[in-house]
Amino acid sequence: MRTRPLKVALLGCGVVGSEVARIMTTHADDLAARIGAPVELAGVAVRRPSKVREGIDPALITTDATALVQRGDIDVVIEVIGGIEPARALITTAFENGASVVSANKALLAEDGAALHAAAEKYGRDLYYEAAVAGAIPLVRPLRESLAGDKVNRVLGIVNGTTNFILDKMDTSGAGYSEALDEATALGYAEADPTADVEGFDAAAKAAILAGIAFHTRVRIGDVHREGITEVTAADIASARRMGCTVKLLAICERAADGASVTARVHPAMIPLSHPLASVREAYNAVFIEADAAGQLMFYGPGAGGSPTASAVLGDLVAVCRNKLGEATGPGESAYTRLPVSPMGEVVTRYHISLDVADKPGVLAQVATVFAEQGVSIDTVRQQGKDGEASLVVVTHRAPDAALSGTVEALRKLDTVRGVASIMRVEGE
Ligand code: NDP
Ligand code: HSE
Repeated sequence: MRTRPLKVALLGCGVVGSEVARIMTTHADDLAARIGAPVELAGVAVRRPSKVREGIDPALITTDATALVQRGDIDVVIEVIGGIEPARALITTAFENGASVVSANKALLAEDGAALHAAAEKYGRDLYYEAAVAGAIPLVRPLRESLAGDKVNRVLGIVNGTTNFILDKMDTSGAGYSEALDEATALGYAEADPTADVEGFDAAAKAAILAGIAFHTRVRIGDVHREGITEVTAADIASARRMGCTVKLLAICERAADGASVTARVHPAMIPLSHPLASVREAYNAVFIEADAAGQLMFYGPGAGGSPTASAVLGDLVAVCRNKLGEATGPGESAYTRLPVSPMGEVVTRYHISLDVADKPGVLAQVATVFAEQGVSIDTVRQQGKDGEASLVVVTHRAPDAALSGTVEALRKLDTVRGVASIMRVEGE
């Protein structure tokens, strides 16, 4: 074993970074044995230098992250600051100055992954980011390496711990939305700005990364159809229960049946209680990958939090250090298929629509006519009337999303429809 240590710069020492530093210390001997050389924490960049950081030598702390990555003697930079800048500039500077990079930054990778991969390739460095998708769950490496010989057709799952935590609490304990979000934030699951979680940006970034790797094409966050959970109400969850379903925020990436394009979307959906994703609780994530030869694979585990995410970062650190010692690099970007991303309107899905309507003769027929005119077939209708008003819940068969949203638009224009109480897609049947 080499005795000269590999030097690691840690950018960020918050929820994830502090756990990375802790595990690097407590598992130092095992890491050295697995890598073939010891790893040494050579510097830790933070924003607030006076904050007490347990287990970290204060002499390592700096607020000058740029100087740290420019030192020239750093072998690996671990970026766990988050956000676009200064993370992007720091990663590029790290490549220029001889370091490979491990990052957990899905926002940046989904925004500018292609340029970062190009920079890594130009300087002959590694860019690894297992922690960017679904916390501790290995997904990036299985897709990039284990399934490199197969053809992936679909990736579907729960990839955001915070929103799963909130929906789970609302469903099982009747907790309020804000109360559940506060708890998820206190547990270290939420992003620095939790809007990224609840509005679906975080899951959309992960969907972009997964779709890009799975289909060997470039998918950016802006290509992903995104809806968050802020509009999901207790009534939606109760309605899902009556149908034998639960509500989950899903990320769904699919190759079109003709193989000529892909789609990527994130939105809340009702799924049957019998579906394996329905039993994914708290901040756990679960992802199904469907591939030609492998069939259906399911990955499940803690999707957020300092320690689970640090596990994924450390796995990448070991891989990158081994590559360094072997003077090799791991897999880079694979985007050779150049498949375009189709708009949401082309996705075929099902809707659960809840309408407040006048309770008088002919209303049901009027509503049914709108569905028929848009070419959307109805699966079930449930009506409950009270005092001249009625609530009508319609579940459709599968239809293009454009036809379904056209139906909702036309329904809103009917005099007898007082309001569209909720619209949710139905998946997993
Ligand atoms: P935190 O907000 O807890 O930590 C961010 C760290 O970055 C802090 O130590 C902060 O310093 C430091 N920092 C911020 N700006 C700068 C800067 N300009 N220069 C130097 N240091 C800076 O975030 P998390 O640890 O939760 O997340 C980090 C990354 O990991 C993000 O990309 C996130 O998306 C990703 N991630 C997070 C997961 C989680 O469960 N939390 C799971 C998977 C990925 P200071 O301590 O002084 O404030
Ligand atoms: N905020 C993210 C989540 C962290 O809740 O899933 C893990 O990526």
